[in-house]
Amino acid sequence: MTDNPAMNRLKGRVILIAGAASGIGAAIARRCVAEGARIVCADYDSGAAQTLADQLGSSAIACQCDVTDAASAKSAVDIAERNFGRLDGLVHNAAAPSTSATVVNLDESAWRHEIDVSLTGAFLMSKFAVPLIAAGGGGSVVFIGSQFGRVATTRAVAYCAAKAGLIHLAKAMAVDHAPDKIRVNSLSPGAVATTRLLRRFPDFEAANAGLGPAHLLGRIAEPDEIAAAAAFLLSSDASFVTGSDMLADGGYATR
Ligand SMILES: NC(=O)c1ccc[n+]([C@@H]2O[C@H](COP(=O)([O-])OP(=O)(O)OC[C@H]3O[C@@H](n4cnc5c(N)ncnc54)[C@H](O)[C@@H]3O)[C@@H](O)[C@H]2O)c1
Repeated sequence: MTDNPAMNRLKGRVILIAGAASGIGAAIARRCVAEGARIVCADYDSGAAQTLADQLGSSAIACQCDVTDAASAKSAVDIAERNFGRLDGLVHNAAAPSTSATVVNLDESAWRHEIDVSLTGAFLMSKFAVPLIAAGGGGSVVFIGSQFGRVATTRAVAYCAAKAGLIHLAKAMAVDHAPDKIRVNSLSPGAVATTRLLRRFPDFEAANAGLGPAHLLGRIAEPDEIAAAAAFLLSSDASFVTGSDMLADGGYATR
């Protein structure tokens, strides 16, 4: 859907994408390689991560990674260093399937898992990635948030809280790591046509009919549209952008 001009803005950069195997993460992986980056596709689903890396060729390697586990997060960063010798960017895209519940009927374990993957995962990936990015002279960290980190919705308390936390974690990290020349931003999509929506709708047409009208543009997004925004934040085109939450939500949060 985007023009995808081969701008090569990420040539020479190494980018680690956590939660790269499907949907938005896979679109970001493809866009990064199209723009000249070498990437590590890290995902809990190692088979799908490997399939994606195979499709992307020698610029991509896959690794199994559970972002909720410190050793696993560290190992993904070590793999980037071992294979490519540096790290210039981190994208934290992983999120657990969202449980539809209020605080009253949400299981404690479901709450902890959603917070763990979205928020603790971003913390752990950053904990190990930031020193390597700093050692190379700086770079860019992007957390994939959601419009529901900015505005609330029904029966999504853990998801809303995790995404709001992620947006503010990016700001706090932007403050701490500006001296290291590391820009840190979040990118908050509206509804995007990925399998995540197929847990609620029979197909994308139904998802678009159900969710599209809530967006000013009257439709849901394609994953490539979010990947284009991520590539901007990863690139030097965003050289003066840090501590921001970039909405790519078709205007959802405007009203
Ligand atoms: N699709 C949407 O409508 C939408 C809207 C707003 C925000 N988002 C956000 O965009 C991101 C991607 O969403 P998507 O729709 O592509 O979802 P998705 O479920 O297709 O992708 C999530 C990826 O994260 C991986 N993952 C899950 N748990 C993990 C773990 N513990 N460790 C490592 N990887 C793990 C999954 O295997 C999967 O590849 C998520 O953060 C989501 O909250 C999606």
